[in-house]
Amino acid sequence: MVKIFSSIRASKFTESVIREMTRICLKHQGVNLAQGFPDFPAPLEIKEAAIQAIQKDFNQYAITWGTPSLRQAIAEKFAWYNGVTIDPETEITVCCGSTEAMISSLMAIVNPGEEVIVFEPFYENYGPDTILCGARPKFITLHEPDWHFDEEKLSRAFTNQTKAIILNTPNNPTGKVFSLEELQFIADLCLKWGVIAVTDEIYEHILYDGAKHISIASLPGMQDQTITINSISKTYSLTGWRVGWAIASAPLTSSIRKVHDFLTVGAPHPLQEAAATALRVDREYYGTLARQYQERRDVLAQGLEETGFKVFQPRGAYYIMTEIGHFGYSDDVAFARLLVEKGGVATVPGSSFYSSPSLGKTKIRFCFPKKMETLQQAAEKLKKFKAVK
Ligand SMILES: Cc1ncc(COP(=O)(O)O)c(C=O)c1O
Repeated sequence: MVKIFSSIRASKFTESVIREMTRICLKHQGVNLAQGFPDFPAPLEIKEAAIQAIQKDFNQYAITWGTPSLRQAIAEKFAWYNGVTIDPETEITVCCGSTEAMISSLMAIVNPGEEVIVFEPFYENYGPDTILCGARPKFITLHEPDWHFDEEKLSRAFTNQTKAIILNTPNNPTGKVFSLEELQFIADLCLKWGVIAVTDEIYEHILYDGAKHISIASLPGMQDQTITINSISKTYSLTGWRVGWAIASAPLTSSIRKVHDFLTVGAPHPLQEAAATALRVDREYYGTLARQYQERRDVLAQGLEETGFKVFQPRGAYYIMTEIGHFGYSDDVAFARLLVEKGGVATVPGSSFYSSPSLGKTKIRFCFPKKMETLQQAAEKLKKFKAVK
């Protein structure tokens, strides 16, 4: 008898489709518009701060929940940008990216069998995250073209078994930016049912067409019932540094810190020191960042429309969700494979963002944190690729 060594837990989810598309893209030497990471340099000043931190010998373990200078910088920034005052001593856990902040937070609050509400389409990590913490996910669909949710369905999803709701605003993959009214509706349900909002806000500065970012933690009564997740990955183009954090009330933070400590001990110490410099950059940086991304969005959206894709214009984050149903392919995965193998452009099939693959069958996601020339090259390749069967 062949013994199965893999755990049941690990067998319940597959490898990341996004990271797989990156590998296929490398094989075909295509343009990678699948995985959301920049192909342009990170800000010089922040890189220099990291070099300095290594030279100054910040090279041993930091305090497990984060170096004091970074926690102080996070608290200052959360106060001015998000409008919430927190205690950096007791309400922040610095983690290895927001990826670890999310799983550590869920493991710290969810008991096996408890329900966690997830909006779909969702950033693909949230699926395995709920499985790893033993939660029963309940999915609420965001409907295109504006990615609204059905208030009635959301209200019915909250029960005595609900422990948390995962939010992501600005949203990957849809580009939706949740409005104050929507957030207040969700907050009212959280307060009524005693549910924690776990909110991933890593695209909080990447906003278009006048959209405004609102943190649910800033709504009345929500500070103690929210875990706000963030990182330096997207705002400062430093996805490889693996520095993120979870902000929560002191009792929640003490649970998160325990899980985090035994999972990773801590994020890289010199990079935490440099992250403190990043969080204190001149505030003009954020406006420039959003403007540059808006230009990139417009170039890619135009290229896609000229090739016949139906574009759902994002209001934030750096992805474009598209409709491909009219091209006549049987499914999104086959289409994405063809597009990278024959067209030389890697994308992510829509089904990887839904609990039930059929919901994403006619969708494809493109990302655009790329140099203008990369996006123009992708647009050229798309035009040459005949999408219609
Ligand atoms: C919504 C969302 N959350 C988290 C992450 C991962 O972030 P980090 O690099 O901080 O782990 C991504 C990366 O694409 C993302 O889109």
